Amino acid sequence: MSRKPIIAGNWKMNLLRADATALYEGIKSFVKDYTAVQLPTVVIAPTFTSLSAVGSVPCDCGCGGNKINVAAQNCHWESSGAYTGEISVEMAKDAGCSYIIIGHSERRQYFSESDEMINKKAKAIIAGGLIPIICCGETLEQREAGITDEHIASQIRAALKDISSEDVANSVIAYEPIWAIGTGKTCDSVEANRVIKMIRNVVSEVAGSQAADAIRILYGGSVKPSTIEEQMSQSDIDGALIGGASLTAESFNEIIANTMKVAV
Ligand code: 13P
Repeated sequence: MSRKPIIAGNWKMNLLRADATALYEGIKSFVKDYTAVQLPTVVIAPTFTSLSAVGSVPCDCGCGGNKINVAAQNCHWESSGAYTGEISVEMAKDAGCSYIIIGHSERRQYFSESDEMINKKAKAIIAGGLIPIICCGETLEQREAGITDEHIASQIRAALKDISSEDVANSVIAYEPIWAIGTGKTCDSVEANRVIKMIRNVVSEVAGSQAADAIRILYGGSVKPSTIEEQMSQSDIDGALIGGASLTAESFNEIIANTMKVAV
């Protein structure tokens, strides 16, 4: 089955609104020359304060798709209430988001997010009609101890618990080995593809083979314009979640362009 690639930029805690607007404009001026059908699914995830400075860009060719989609970097699972500092799925949707990143290793590590919380968030996002981008990944210690696969499999089983096969099929997973994030050390593409295939097998176990065939699984961790073609040439890597290289229009656009050379 052919899965449409996703190129997603996670801006993390970077860029004031003026810089976020300039980056958004730089991406917009690149994607304007293509239709949503020609492009990968392009997603940008600014900080909450910059959500109002960007917006989804609908395609003008009548295909019904967007040239740019907007994601939140996190959300709470409750719809409203006394949760100081949090935002709900409905608020993210109201701000123009159609995707929400959850379970990023930085949130697991620095904000003690558990698998159970990530599962609650995934369910809330799906119930709200948005698409979760569920992150998973192992530490260097786990990799060296030979427990990468069992760790990732347990993160995925927990995140997808009690979610219907149809909803799993429409979700997105991002495999981001923690040792590859922000280090410049990209995971070998063949190895990333192996882990992603393993994730697909876990999805097949919990949600069936149709969902496993349909779900888009991305790689993240020091993705650059120079690495994306090899990554996208792998059988099971359906796109990338990009941190550092998504912070300039030049490199993000080059990643999109290089993706179109080998996939879409
Ligand atoms: P880098 O691309 O900076 O390694 O970040 C990856 C990441 O964490 C994306 O969510």
